[in-house]
Formats: sequence, C-alpha cells, structure tokens
Amino acid sequence: MDRPPSIAGSLRLLLETQLTSKPQPDKQLSSVPTNWYEDFFHGVTLDLWRQAIAPKHTAAEADFLIKALQCAPGAEVLDVPCGNGRLSFALAQQGLRVTGLDLSKEFIDEARAAVEKFHPGEGQSAPAAPQFILGDKRAIQGEAIYDGAYCFGNSFGFLDYPDMEKFLAGVARALKPGARFVLETGMAAESILPDFEEQTCHQIGDINVITRERYNAAESCIYSEYILERAGKSESRFARHWIYTSAEIQRMLQRAGLEILELYGSLKFEPYKLGCQELFVVSEARA
Ligand SMILES: C[S@@+](CC[C@H](N)C(=O)[O-])C[C@H]1O[C@@H](n2cnc3c(N)ncnc32)[C@H](O)[C@@H]1O
Repeated sequence: MDRPPSIAGSLRLLLETQLTSKPQPDKQLSSVPTNWYEDFFHGVTLDLWRQAIAPKHTAAEADFLIKALQCAPGAEVLDVPCGNGRLSFALAQQGLRVTGLDLSKEFIDEARAAVEKFHPGEGQSAPAAPQFILGDKRAIQGEAIYDGAYCFGNSFGFLDYPDMEKFLAGVARALKPGARFVLETGMAAESILPDFEEQTCHQIGDINVITRERYNAAESCIYSEYILERAGKSESRFARHWIYTSAEIQRMLQRAGLEILELYGSLKFEPYKLGCQELFVVSEARA
C-alpha cells in the first residue's frame, strides 16, 4: 500500500475482497448532509484510523513534509486537521513547533494526553511538544503566524465549495508571506474516478469494513456508507466527499492567495498522473 487510506474516503485502498452481491438502493446513502464530518469522527471510526496507518507510513509522510515545507528548525507549523496528532508529533520530533487543529474532541484529548509523554528527537536543541486546538478548519484563527501548514490524511475532500473557500482563506491568512501549504488527497477526480468501485469489503485490524459508495455525477460527489463490524457488533456511518479535479484544486488555492509550486503523485516526489492514488500539492502564500 502506497498511501494512507482515509477512514471516510479511501478505504478502498485496503481492498482485499470484492463482494459478489449487488448494492441495494438506499435512500440514506443518497442523502448524507454536507456537515456529516461533525458526527462521523468518534468511536469505531477513530479506532479504524488508528489501525489503518502504520507508523512507518507516518514516518514517510513526515519526511516528505519536512522536505516539501522547507521550514527551518523552530518554525511554527499548522497541522490541519491533525486527528490524534500522529504527524504533529513526528514533525515536532524533527524540531518544528507544531500546532494541531481538529474538530474531534476524542482525538484532541488523545493528542493532548500524548504531549505528556513527548520526547524530542535526538540532537534537537530547542525542542517543543506540539500543542493542540479543538476547532473547526473552516474557522482557522490568526494572521501571518505560521511558517508552514499542511492538510494530510486524505482530509481535503470533506468540504463543499463554500466551506472549502473558508478553509483555504483561513490557511492563507494564517501563513506568513512566502510560507508553504502542502496538501495531500486521495480524492482528486484523476485519482478516484478511474478505479471507482461501488462496493468493497476489507479487514483493518479487528474491524471488518464493508463500503458502499455511489458517485453522483451531477454533484461530483461520492456518497459512502461504511458498515463497521467488530466483535459481533455492526454500525453504519455515512460520509460524502466532493470530488475536485487537480486543476480545480489549484484554482481554489490560487483564489485563496496561494501560489502553486509543485504537484506530486507520491511521497517519492514522482509526477502526478491519471490514476495516481494520491495527489500532493505544494503551494506558497503570496507575499
Ligand atoms: C482521516 S482523519 C485524518 C487526521 C490527520 N490529518 C491524520 O492524517 O492522521 C480526518 C480528521 O479530520 C477531522 N475533521 C473533519 N472535519 C473537520 C473540520 N471541519 N475541522 C477540523 N477537523 C475536521 C476529523 O475530526 C478527523 O480527525
């Protein structure tokens, strides 16, 4: 597996078995509200995310970010959304001063508890533990306070266009002129649509996940139902992702005040092409 699966977006990456049954029409699946992510990230979905990402993948992402952000040790960096802070801690260990922001109280509580156990990396002269803010990425606070920012963990496609504008404007405003914003997504149209499958099944740790998805071409949205089975219990969670082309993503960044520097299709800095599982966009706040 080359990229991290998003709980809500790219669980298909961990596909192991193709279900033979045909998906049933489901009214609930086609009526997921735009703010689904406010209720989605708690309990079993967080356990899924914790089990889905191997520590060595986090380490590879952190190495990529260190190179792409081009921040000096001690630089202030925003991790948004940060989840349980897995990348915030990895970058802090390399000498960056990271602020993580996330909407999930459960994840932020976990991250804050982990601060107590934080040990800086070897050779860091002025180490600082990351700090964590419980908040919404549509309302990022601060002006010209960060030397870099990133959005990882396939968290980019959660927002519809008006909310995406708020998110990106907040990022651009919070960055110092010339500071970089690096985003990762597995939900760009060129990544997700060529291999789109309506029903998949896979095992992640102790959780069996059946994913049912519909692509609404009129809205350019993927509606998803995750049926999560563990220890004899089953629950459904619903999500909705807006599918933007790579050119649309670049235009949105530019409109927010971010200049595009590079596009990559992997953590190895390979070019982005049709069918690449991930898109990485490196941009820079206008001076
Ligand atoms: C798949 S996790 C990825 C977390 C982290 N980026 C990582 O790579 O581990 C998605 C995260 O986005 C957060 N999230 C979703 N919508 C948000 C919003 N509007 N504002 C802040 N965080 C949000 C969720 O709470 C969840 O922690």
